[in-house]
Amino acid sequence: MNEQQRIDSQKVTVADNSADKKSVSEKTSADFAKYFEKTYQPPSLKDAKKRGKEEVQYHNDFKIPEQFKGMGQGRKFYIRTYGCQMNEHDTEVMAGIFMALGYEPTDGVEDANVILLNTCAIRENAENKVFGELGHLKALKKEKPDLLLGVCGCMSQEESVVNRILKVHPFVDMIFGTHNIHRLPNILSEAYLSKEMVIEVWSKEGDVIENLPKIRKGNIKAWVNIMYGCDKFCTYCIVPYTRGKERSRRPEEIIHEVRQLAAQGYKEITLLGQNVNAYGKDFEDMNYGLGDLMDEIHKIDIPRIRFTTSHPRDFDDRLIEVLAKGGNLLDHIHLPVQSGSSEVLKIMARKYTRERYLELVQKIKTAIPNASLTTDIIVGFPNETDEQFEETLSLYREVEFDSAYTFIYSPREGTPAAKMKDNVPMEVKKERLQRLNALVNEISAKKLKEYEGKIVNVLVEGESKNNPDVLAGYTEKSKLVNFRGPKSAVGQIVKVKIIKAKTWTLDGEMVEEAVEVI
Ligand code: 5AD
Ligand code: SF4
Repeated sequence: MNEQQRIDSQKVTVADNSADKKSVSEKTSADFAKYFEKTYQPPSLKDAKKRGKEEVQYHNDFKIPEQFKGMGQGRKFYIRTYGCQMNEHDTEVMAGIFMALGYEPTDGVEDANVILLNTCAIRENAENKVFGELGHLKALKKEKPDLLLGVCGCMSQEESVVNRILKVHPFVDMIFGTHNIHRLPNILSEAYLSKEMVIEVWSKEGDVIENLPKIRKGNIKAWVNIMYGCDKFCTYCIVPYTRGKERSRRPEEIIHEVRQLAAQGYKEITLLGQNVNAYGKDFEDMNYGLGDLMDEIHKIDIPRIRFTTSHPRDFDDRLIEVLAKGGNLLDHIHLPVQSGSSEVLKIMARKYTRERYLELVQKIKTAIPNASLTTDIIVGFPNETDEQFEETLSLYREVEFDSAYTFIYSPREGTPAAKMKDNVPMEVKKERLQRLNALVNEISAKKLKEYEGKIVNVLVEGESKNNPDVLAGYTEKSKLVNFRGPKSAVGQIVKVKIIKAKTWTLDGEMVEEAVEVI
């Protein structure tokens, strides 16, 4: 299916929100069903689940269509980003498209002519934040009827969300998803011309488009996508539905992008994917994985390379062997475990056991003795017992992670876990989260304390948030360091002696002039 056929078949144009803009919220549910039937086919998580065999097409021919050039003259855009780094990076691409259309960026919603909310669907509270924000923006939209307000990102891929926006927030002008951000010029143009809500959400992923413009946030650190989508289908997770099937970018494109960033003076690259360890598994013509890619990138003259996020199941020996070469490949590995109980892991469909995870950790620690590990953990998965939760605590102690992102399980409509009966009361889940967080803090504090008196390399990002006289930056193991130093150190890697470990951060003093490590 070519792009035009896809647009015609999957795009839903519109739900009429001109006359209905006011009345849509007053409709009865019967009216509503009829209304949807006539004008609107929602995005479908069921369709999003399908994994077709069709080959991914790669395109290098993105152009701003002639008729849209200058559309943004005299107009300003504002994008608010929720969620993960993938979303942050999508925002950079959309900012690139806006600028190519002639729009200017603005830091505040008040003077924006277009506002986009780039949303996250991972947990209910992420979604609630967006609905709350829409509530706030309603007043602004009333004040400025010409303002265009759009919702994009992962939430747009969910039928229930689109329906709720139609019902409760009919003043939204456009909704588009994660697979068609390159269609932003067309969507904007339609939204300007039409009095109706423009909805263009593709349930199935599209092709890989290589040459989209990007405006990166900052000039020190950069995100580089290496793959899109996820095929793992952990039972709690919405991502395989909102981001589609796994599609890897070709290595030569990635290497070219990293080389360009190095030439522009960027100091740190983070390779991005929902499951970076599955990189290359979809290539039909070669056997090439993340280890091979990292080995190539290792040779590029750029001081720091990170990658995120890993899945323990696909983390292979080749990658460990390459990471052990060190140099610009940083020894901080984020390795989400989710639970320390093999029984829970099985129901989560993580496809590894506690023992396999611990073996992997051992392998990594043997090959890279100074590696720092961080993780993600979900507590209160349906029917998680006290004993199973205790296993999570004991695994945490055994691995001694540097830190962790911890979450209470949040049912996501359309996922298998959301259909499971759950006998764990919310009170118990909250208490488990508190106990886990206490352990995370305890070990984290202990690990930070070990830094006192040591010298670390810090990539200086700018002034500290709380004190403009103090500089702040991150170590190779992603510890935030505050120290006094010359402003000329910003953007450089400098050596800092750690004087004091605080709860979450380190205080230090610069020990030399700015020195590049590599
Ligand atoms: N509920 C709670 N946490 C979740 N995560 C993913 N899905 C859910 C969910 N339904 C967490 C996982 C993942 C991180 C990005 O978010 O720990 O690694
Ligand atoms: Fe949120 Fe996942 Fe989408 Fe990232 S990919 S924005 S974490 S739902």
